[in-house]
Amino acid sequence: MSLPSPWRADFPAFSAFAADGLTYLDSAATAQKPQAVLDALLGHYAGGAANVHRAQHLPGERATRAFEAARDSVAQWLNADSEEIVFTRGSTEGLNLLAYGLEHLCEPGDEIAVSALEHHANLLPWQQLAQRRQLRLVILPLDAAGDIDLAQAATLIGPRTRLLAVSQLSNVLGRWQPLAPLLALARAQGALSVVDGAQGVVHGRHDLQALDCDFYVFSGHKLYAPDGIGVLYGRRSALARLRHWQFGGEMVQFADYRSARFRPAPLGFEAGTPAIAAAIGLGAALAYLSEQDPYAIAAHEAALHQRLLAGLRRFDGLRLLGEPHTALASFVVEGVHNADLAHLLNEQGIAVRAGQHCAMPLLQRLGLPGALRVSLGLYSDGDDLERFFAALNHALELLR
Ligand SMILES: Cc1ncc(COP(=O)(O)O)c(C=O)c1O
Repeated sequence: MSLPSPWRADFPAFSAFAADGLTYLDSAATAQKPQAVLDALLGHYAGGAANVHRAQHLPGERATRAFEAARDSVAQWLNADSEEIVFTRGSTEGLNLLAYGLEHLCEPGDEIAVSALEHHANLLPWQQLAQRRQLRLVILPLDAAGDIDLAQAATLIGPRTRLLAVSQLSNVLGRWQPLAPLLALARAQGALSVVDGAQGVVHGRHDLQALDCDFYVFSGHKLYAPDGIGVLYGRRSALARLRHWQFGGEMVQFADYRSARFRPAPLGFEAGTPAIAAAIGLGAALAYLSEQDPYAIAAHEAALHQRLLAGLRRFDGLRLLGEPHTALASFVVEGVHNADLAHLLNEQGIAVRAGQHCAMPLLQRLGLPGALRVSLGLYSDGDDLERFFAALNHALELLR
């Protein structure tokens, strides 16, 4: 069974990869884009680019309509209101925005809780905030499975916790985190909650009303959309508590030489010209995904993932990092450096991620200098995996 992907033909990058003899297994770093997204980008520019929210002319009106339609699509995708969708450059910018925008709510001695598995993007902005305001950064430990330990979280999230910031899906361990009980712990203490959806957003559809978080961030480029665009969702009441953080055009209601009054979200948090084409591309990516059968995507990804795990387990001396739930697998091989392996895989045209995955503290905690990570998208297929396994086999023969 070759496990073909019915979606692969929609992604022109795979023709280019095939021509170059390349196998792409790094979708957790960034995903390829369907033709529909490329068409939307070209359509925006070829149809006549214009700035949004400021022009009185027809091209400006068209661009504004398309840009705001993209916001509506994101809102619909997440089951949120359009006013709750702030466009950012990506997850990292969304998290930095929050770390500045919420600073005024924190007093010295307050606590921010993050987990031991966070990507640097969901650790360093809080670490910096803690240093600026003399806060205590509380690191929620992991249990044996590599998930945030709920029993310990219950003792660490307390009355001084101002904010809880956790990943939905670990970019290293590939495990869904127990968000519902964690967010309930934060809520019970009156703390705000931030969910880093960078990895989770692309696997299934997430209803933010059901999730009941205050903030949720993601990056378009991992969701088959262009880079340079991301989303900060904020519950209306939570957005109202955010301080403005970047200042300039279009985020202002009134300005004189000495003072200014700023717009509320979302436009108040989108200073300057936004990534208009990329936002339109994000709308097109969501339209593309909406036209596909979500159960068929989930079944395909699950079957491929099972095959990936089973294939990896056949290699002597290979250790999987935990039991990933979905779409990725990280591993190390006894006696072999991950960088050497990645080099030999690359020489054979296999693109996988190696190193510390922007999660140095987690890798340190696991006692590893680095690891390899294979990750899948809806367009990945069984042949990708077969080529990867053959290349891994060959690389290990050379290294041992
Ligand atoms: C879990 C997680 N959070 C945040 C990020 C940062 O995303 P971006 O670089 O698109 O801002 C990533 C990127 O890999 C990630 O995996």
